[in-house]
Formats: sequence, C-alpha cells, structure tokens
Amino acid sequence: MTVAEPRIAIVGAGPAGIYAADILLGRVPNASIDLFEKLPAPYGLVRYGVAPDHPRIRKITDALHEVLVNPRIRLRCNVEIGVDVGIGELRAAYDGVIVATGADLDVALDIPGIDLPGSFGAADFVAWYDGHPDVSRTWPLTAESVAVLGAGNVALDVTRILATHASALSHTDTPDAVLDQLAASPLRDVHLFARRGPTDVRFSAMELRELAEQDDVDVIVDPEELALDEHAERMVAQFSQRRIIVRTLTEWAALDPASRTASRRIHLHLRQRPVRLLGSDAVTGIEMERTASDELGRMVGTGHLLRYDVGAVYRAVGYRSTPVPGMPFDGDLGVVTHVEGRVVDAEGAPIPRLYATGWIKRGPVGLIGSTKSDAAQTIGHLVDDLDALEREARDDDPIAHLTHAVDFDGWLRIDAAERSAGADRGRERTKLVEREEMLMHAKHEQMMEAGR
Ligand SMILES: Cc1cc2nc3c(=O)[nH]c(=O)nc-3n(C[C@H](O)[C@H](O)[C@H](O)COP(=O)(O)OP(=O)(O)OC[C@H]3O[C@@H](n4cnc5c(N)ncnc54)[C@H](O)[C@@H]3O)c2cc1C
Ligand SMILES: NC(=O)c1ccc[n+]([C@@H]2O[C@H](COP(=O)([O-])OP(=O)(O)OC[C@H]3O[C@@H](n4cnc5c(N)ncnc54)[C@H](OP(=O)(O)O)[C@@H]3O)[C@@H](O)[C@H]2O)c1
Repeated sequence: MTVAEPRIAIVGAGPAGIYAADILLGRVPNASIDLFEKLPAPYGLVRYGVAPDHPRIRKITDALHEVLVNPRIRLRCNVEIGVDVGIGELRAAYDGVIVATGADLDVALDIPGIDLPGSFGAADFVAWYDGHPDVSRTWPLTAESVAVLGAGNVALDVTRILATHASALSHTDTPDAVLDQLAASPLRDVHLFARRGPTDVRFSAMELRELAEQDDVDVIVDPEELALDEHAERMVAQFSQRRIIVRTLTEWAALDPASRTASRRIHLHLRQRPVRLLGSDAVTGIEMERTASDELGRMVGTGHLLRYDVGAVYRAVGYRSTPVPGMPFDGDLGVVTHVEGRVVDAEGAPIPRLYATGWIKRGPVGLIGSTKSDAAQTIGHLVDDLDALEREARDDDPIAHLTHAVDFDGWLRIDAAERSAGADRGRERTKLVEREEMLMHAKHEQMMEAGR
C-alpha cells in the first residue's frame, strides 16, 4: 500500500478556513487542500461584514491572499457544500473535511411587532452595505429617526453607517448604489439602546470613540443613565477597558447642549431593553423598559416604560449560523456539535474525518484573530487523527466535475476588475456586487479561450 499525500477539504473561505489551511500546511507540508466557498469571492465576513470605514481591518485580506497563493491550496469559489456537493461525498473523497462556514443570519428577537415592515436585522443591513452578491440591491432608508438594539460592535457598525454622511465613505470600496442610497437618506436621529449599564456593554472602547469621530454627527448621552452602582464601580476599578468606556461616555454626557449643532445625532441610551415595536402597518415607534442591576450585577426590569417615535428598528443582537446539510448541529447553541473541533454525533462519538473551526464551531463571538487559535486546535486533532488513518494513494480528482467553480485565477480576475473600477474613481477598489457580473469576470479568460 502506498501512503498518499493527505487530501483535505475545507468548507468556507472566510478567515477560519484560510487560517486552517495555512496552519495545516505548516504542520503537514505535503498535504493538498481543496478550499470550497459558496460565494464567487473568498474572505467571508472580512469582505462582507467588516465595515467599509475600517480599511485597516479589511487589509487583513492581503494576509489571507498570501495564504491562497500557495499552490497546494486549490480555491473553488461558487461551490456550495450541501447543495453542489454533499458532506458525505467530501468525507468519502478526502482524508479530512474541515467545516468553517461561519455565521450569516440574525438571531431572532422574540418581541411583539418584530415582523412589521421597517424592522430589520443587522446581518441583512450589513450584507447590503457591504455589497453581498445574494441580497437585495436596495434598502429602504426612508426614516428620519431609527432605533438600533444591542450593545455589541455590530450595533456600533450599524449605528455609524446609518449616521455617517455618504461622502465620508466615497473613498472606500462601498458599491456606488449603496453610496447613492445613503446619500439620499433623510436620517436625523439614531437611538442606540444598550440593555445593561455602561460597564456591561459588549462593544470595545475604540469602536465606541469612533462614533464621535464622524463629521457633522453629535453623540448624546444622558448623564443620569451613567450613574455607577456598586457592581459598576467594581468593574471600573478592575478593568481598564471598562474605565475607558465610562470615561468616554462621561465626557459626552458633560458636553454643552449648545455645542450640538450637527445635522445628525446619535442618542446612546443605557439600561433600556426592548418591549415591543409599535405600529399597525409599519414601525412607528418602539417601547422600551428601564432596567437596573441587582446586587449580583444581574439585569432586572423596573417596569418603567418609555416610548420613542422611530420609523425603523435595527436589531443587532447577535448572529447565528446556517446548518450545513449532513453536519450535526446544536440548534440551541447554534453551532456544529463537536469536541475541540472534532465533530461528534448525537452520542458524542467523533465522526471520522469531520472537523469544524471558526464561528460555526465556537459561535458568533470573537475577532478575526481568534479564528487563528481556534484553527490551531482543530488542526492539532486532525493531524493526530491523520497519523492513525490508513490512507491509500488515489488518482481520481474529486473536483474535476465542478466546472462552474471559480478558481484562484478566476478570483484574481474579479479582484483585478474591482481594482480597475476603483482606480477610475481614485479608490483602491469598487466592489462588484452582482453574482453574474462577478462570474462573468471570473470566467472571462476561459470564455475567450473557448471562443478561439
Ligand atoms: C458585521 C461584522 C463586522 C465585523 N467586524 C470585525 C472587525 O472589524 N474586526 C474583527 O477582528 N472582527 C470583526 N468581525 C468578526 C469576524 O468577522 C469573525 O471573527 C470572522 O469572520 C469569523 O470567521 P469565519 O471564517 O468563522 O466565518 P465567516 O467570515 O463568516 O466565513 C465563513 C465562509 O464560509 C462560507 N460558507 C458558508 N456556508 C458555506 C457552504 N455551505 N459551502 C461553502 N461555503 C460556505 C461563507 O460564504 C463565508 O465566506 C465582524 C463580524 C461581523 C458580523
Ligand atoms: N470592530 C470590530 O472589532 C468588530 C465589529 C463587529 C463585530 N465584531 C465582533 O463580532 C462579534 C459579534 O458581534 P455582535 O455585536 O453581533 O455580538 P455581541 O458582541 O454578542 O453583542 C450582541 C449584543 O446584543 C445584545 N442583546 C442580545 N439579546 C438582546 C435582547 N433580547 N435585547 C436587547 N439586546 C440584546 C447583547 O446584550 P447583552 O450583553 O446584555 O447580552 C449584546 O449587547 C463580537 O465578538 C464582536 O466584537 C468586532
């Protein structure tokens, strides 16, 4: 028996999948990797989640590109696992299958009125402004006053993009149609609601400060909502990030109202949780309840209700993953069932050759960098298992039939088309958004060859 080079499939070309490929090749240099991605472009949420006004973070794609250049990795975009190829087929054809499909949906918020027109999920809005190929090209930016629910970094992204004047994004890769619609938005007020106090928000201090760094946008904080209870005092004393957040909010709360002359305002409300959306045919307002912390720092309702007139509500209360057909999925936790990245069945037994990494493994929390350590754990187990696996040389090519796939060169052609469209406008790139247009660029050379 000849022992073959290990053949590994990775599903999802977001940071988790790409870092997993890189770490695997560091540990097993003769491995060959097929990396499948359902979109015509790689990079996952780095391309379709990170806000366009965060170019430094977007630049992480340069490092991810360097990984993809490795000839031992065959990128196959425009291939959806579970639709075009089944997980079972991959397991039969590869020595290991790593699922890194991330999270792309909004967590539900089960309150009355949430299904009214004018109620939106952050994940959908983000996908729209970041030019995701599979979402609507138009967004109803008709409200003068909107509410954003949630106190994580996604809530801040959504708040900032809603409040930003479109001209401030004109140098970014934002699609033209998005810029045009943002420019026509009549928005004046964004009400951002955190359900806990200032030391229990999830967003980071740096992202918070950015809210006030935009031209012609004021941030307004009610000093009364900043009062620190015993629990908050303890948090401030212990954690520097908490101190910075409280200091920032305190500075904003102390600003002279006469200095607030901007045409757009962000009202940052603390200790208020959503009760219901108001309106019969569409959102006309939101009812909130004031909260407090009990002696253990737990949030409790006070029964004090407040109403705000808003024409739209964006919930940024977390992401959730889409299950991949053929993969065991824990619906409560919203992740693949696994033990340290080894996918397990209902009895907890590892399913041979099946692994997970990234947000589909860990849940939708953590920065891009944390997908690296995550991948290292999963790859550690995969490498141990490979050593024990009996492998035979195979001369079939499991991806030969995927003629609709966009390979690395195809992606480079899309990339070149975006850079060229951007250069015409003095930017680094302008994103292509239509799937067909992306595929047309990807396949251009092949079509030319076929026509010769
Ligand atoms: C709005 C938003 C903004 C963020 N901004 C930042 C930031 O500024 N800085 C930071 O450090 N972190 C940020 N993050 C967090 C960061 O994006 C995540 O930590 C990271 O993207 C998770 O990586 P992943 O590879 O697990 O998932 P993803 O990035 O979601 O990648 C998963 C990939 O799998 C593909 N896929 C899914 N299903 C299939 C299938 N069936 N077949 C084939 N392919 C499939 C998807 O298309 C996607 O490309 C942000 C997150 C969000 C939601
Ligand atoms: N610039 C960046 O670095 C950046 C940008 C975007 C995202 N990210 C990262 O991506 C990850 C996901 O971010 P995220 O913002 O989606 O998630 P998150 O950090 O988990 O925040 C979710 C927020 O929703 C709130 N929430 C949940 N259920 C609620 C309810 N029923 N009513 C009101 N509020 C509710 C939570 O409040 P409680 O805390 O009270 O539960 C929390 O404030 C995070 O790790 C984040 O740091 C980073």
